[in-house]
Amino acid sequence: MAHLAVNDVRAKYGALEVLKGISFSIEKGEIAALVGPSGSGKSTVLRALMGLTPVTGGHVALAGDQLDYSNAKSVRAARDRMAIVFQQYNLFQNMTVMQNLTLAPLKIKRWPRAEVESEARRLLGLVGLGDKADAYSDQLSGGQQQRVALARALALKPQILLLDEVTSALDPELVNEVLDAVGKLAAEGMTMIIVSHEMAFVREVADKVIFMDGGQIVESGEPAALFDSPRTDRARDFFSKILRH
Ligand SMILES: Nc1ncnc2c1ncn2[C@@H]1O[C@H](COP(=O)(O)OP(=O)(O)OP(=O)(O)O)[C@@H](O)[C@H]1O
Ligand SMILES: [Mg+2]
Repeated sequence: MAHLAVNDVRAKYGALEVLKGISFSIEKGEIAALVGPSGSGKSTVLRALMGLTPVTGGHVALAGDQLDYSNAKSVRAARDRMAIVFQQYNLFQNMTVMQNLTLAPLKIKRWPRAEVESEARRLLGLVGLGDKADAYSDQLSGGQQQRVALARALALKPQILLLDEVTSALDPELVNEVLDAVGKLAAEGMTMIIVSHEMAFVREVADKVIFMDGGQIVESGEPAALFDSPRTDRARDFFSKILRH
């Protein structure tokens, strides 16, 4: 049984259908990368899974359970099992790194403080920020803040992590430290869907690459197969442009 099974998912913004029947599945511990031109619907796939964009058709199952996007309560229940990190990390600036990581687990989940704090320290170590627990988030670099955002998402113990261009807003020299942190999560067995323009990174960490265009999946496969010998003209055209340098 797939860890996440997405079947014929559709989403609309007003009258505009932006996801026109998306189907894919990933196994536990796998990493799927969504790639494709701007406007192809990559972010909308992640937003729809989180219930941030209304799902107008299709089915999603996570760890064997059907997710129900039909009302606010079931959307909250679905959202509870996943976490998303965006390009803009939106940390709480007037709080320390530790407070950023522990706020939701303590206040929303009501998990015991000792456990929450020890898990927060473990996660900060994992993303290479073991010495920054007491720093205020506005004292950190963009790359450090984005790594805090990753750790904060994980502190809620999601069954799947969705990453939408988490390195796009960073200066080039900070990109690798965030990619390294994502690589560590991958090595820990976190199931992830990542949207990324960092094709070398995608080739290295992704088990599966899903190429989208016009709100549909055009082609998918293992990174090397898809990048080096795409079957469709659209994928060939796209990869020939972006993999040139
Ligand atoms: N809030 C919105 N209201 C109306 N249309 C939207 C909205 N957000 C996205 N769209 C449209 O949905 C389509 C898919 O957008 P989406 O953001 O998913 O693309 P993307 O593949 O993530 O692109 P990019 O690589 O530029 O981030 C586009 O045509 C876009 O214009
Ligand atoms: Mg996007």
